[in-house]
Amino acid sequence: MTLFLLDLMTKYINYAQYPVPRIRHHAKPVLYFPLKQHRGDRFNYPAEIESLDWKNIFAGGKPPAYIDIGCGLGRFLINMALFEPKKNILGFEVRQGAVEWIEKVIAGEKIPNARALWYSAVNGFKFIKSGSIEKAFYFFPDPWVKRRHYKRRAFSAELLDEIHRVLKPSGKLYLMTDVPEVDGFQQEVMTAHGGFKYKYVTDGKWDLPIETNQEEFCIRKKIPFIRMVCRMK
Ligand SMILES: C[S@@+](CC[C@H](N)C(=O)[O-])C[C@H]1O[C@@H](n2cnc3c(N)ncnc32)[C@H](O)[C@@H]1O
Repeated sequence: MTLFLLDLMTKYINYAQYPVPRIRHHAKPVLYFPLKQHRGDRFNYPAEIESLDWKNIFAGGKPPAYIDIGCGLGRFLINMALFEPKKNILGFEVRQGAVEWIEKVIAGEKIPNARALWYSAVNGFKFIKSGSIEKAFYFFPDPWVKRRHYKRRAFSAELLDEIHRVLKPSGKLYLMTDVPEVDGFQQEVMTAHGGFKYKYVTDGKWDLPIETNQEEFCIRKKIPFIRMVCRMK
């Protein structure tokens, strides 16, 4: 499918029907930490998920082929689903308002192969079968620039273990960030993990034709960003 067709297809969604509510930039700090680290505190935390019946998630009843970790307002998630109608794509997002809005668009437009879950990725993906995911996306994570906030970053050895477990042997993890310090941090975690080989994409050979909300913003504002593709060793 050409980019021209994609453009036509995505413009077909009349976003004026789905006004975006006011959504805070960050969720409550507790949501960036795994549920097991909290001891009986009372707070509104997304449910821990042990298993999912995919028949209740995607119209075709099949599991996801793609996952979008920290999908934000879901531009990439929705357009990727439209672009590849045979692939189910599941997004995870910690800001409840964003998920509710994405789900409204998905339901309104009857998109059968996209869903977003209110979920903190730091709890792992027990409900996803090992070796089942073709592509995992982790785009423009919150930088948490202050040193005391580093621990809120979702990217960690544990998250990489989970991504490594759910990816097919031929699977790929795609990363993008506009914060060089975050890129350095991710590269360090990735190197220490040792389960992936990675390559920076500097020659424009990025095989995803869809932009994320943040990527589109960076392009519009001429903010440089860094792309990396990781494969299983
Ligand atoms: C800067 S936004 C980028 C959104 C989108 N990926 C894009 O490129 O436009 C980062 C997103 O990751 C989400 N996020 C941060 N930590 C998360 C976690 N532990 N689990 C799920 N989502 C998380 C944030 O709420 C935010 O929406």
